[in-house]
Amino acid sequence: MNAIIAAQPRDFLHGRAAAQARPRVSIIVPTYREAENVAPTVAAIERALGDIAWEIIFVDDDSPDGTVAAVRSLGERDGRVRVIRRVGRRGLAGAVIEGMMASAADIVAVIDADLQHDEALLPKMLGAIETGNADLVIATRYAQSGDAQGGFSTLRRNASTLATRVSNLLLKTNVSDPMSGFFMIRRDAIDGIAPNLATGGFKLLLDILASAPESLKIVEMPYQFRPRQLGTSKLDALVIADFLGLLLSKLSGNTISPRFFLFALVGATGLVVHLATLRSVLTTTHIPFNAAQFIAALVAMTSNFFLNNALTFRDRRLTGSAVFKGLLTFYLVCSIGTLANVGVAELIYLRDASWWRAGIAGAVMAAVFNYAVSSMLTWRK
Ligand code: GDD
Ligand code: MN
Repeated sequence: MNAIIAAQPRDFLHGRAAAQARPRVSIIVPTYREAENVAPTVAAIERALGDIAWEIIFVDDDSPDGTVAAVRSLGERDGRVRVIRRVGRRGLAGAVIEGMMASAADIVAVIDADLQHDEALLPKMLGAIETGNADLVIATRYAQSGDAQGGFSTLRRNASTLATRVSNLLLKTNVSDPMSGFFMIRRDAIDGIAPNLATGGFKLLLDILASAPESLKIVEMPYQFRPRQLGTSKLDALVIADFLGLLLSKLSGNTISPRFFLFALVGATGLVVHLATLRSVLTTTHIPFNAAQFIAALVAMTSNFFLNNALTFRDRRLTGSAVFKGLLTFYLVCSIGTLANVGVAELIYLRDASWWRAGIAGAVMAAVFNYAVSSMLTWRK
């Protein structure tokens, strides 16, 4: 018995523990529906890193296609590969942040799971950080010899170039690919700012650049962005709306949250819905104006509710029977908001006699009120 216990630690050292020396770099791979890409991605990274000690942390948002199982079965054979399965949450940036916080190495890299990023660059990126030449290395699709052509459609390339220009302008950064999903950074540069980073959408690097101190040493390395072979891209309208929210929020010096901008955006669509409904009710029925106005308001509020539930508050999305209760509280909040709108506008109109200044003040008042109260009442945390 004693002999067995005494023998154990030594076996450990000579067996797995010796093989699993502390990694020099942790590779974070965010995934959503990438089951078929998991094995090729690990193989590519392993080949690229050679004898550099590494670990790979997949962070999956509970994909329904078996991505987690795919990583686990690889992990059974190779302890350097593991997966964090997040449940009830979606968001690329948040997934990456969680992976970084769970890493064993002092240096962390982020790379997509679809082989669009060139993993062969990893050793060079690591070298730049380990020698102290960089705190952050951005693999960029645009710098001199970098080539984004392969992996992008024309539309996507133009949109991407525009987004890059706008970001650099607003955030006063001047890196050539601030939206890159492929970069490496010293973890201690992330630790402090992690709680302040936005968890939704695709703009983690942008957010890091905006929050990092000026002393952060940044190096860019160009590479060829490859076309996706398997699976589909998850960059959609929601991701773009989210990105606009972040830019506007940064523009306001962080005083206004990205969520509020989404709420205001939805509010603006509500106005369009309201007017369109009013017009069609008035032209197709003989209902009096007041009643038509009431119907239009109800339709607009309902549409706002569902858009906000899907977009603005998607991380607190109401489902099942909670939807009905949520809708009722939202009607209540908006009705009081409308009273506030009319009241404020009238007050200002009496003092100022400018109808448009009064109108804008009323609308802003209602937006702020509806946002503040519905985020406490309808979509409370
Ligand atoms: N955990 C998690 N949660 N992972 C996600 C999510 C999510 O909600 N959405 C996307 N991913 C994963 C994908 O599975 C993939 O590994 C990686 O994040 C990038 O997603 P893609 O859907 O392949 O994005 P893309 O190729 O269209 O976008 C590329 O360009 C963007 C900027 O233009 C990527 O390089 C992005 O990283 C980059 O920000
Ligand atoms: Mn991709």
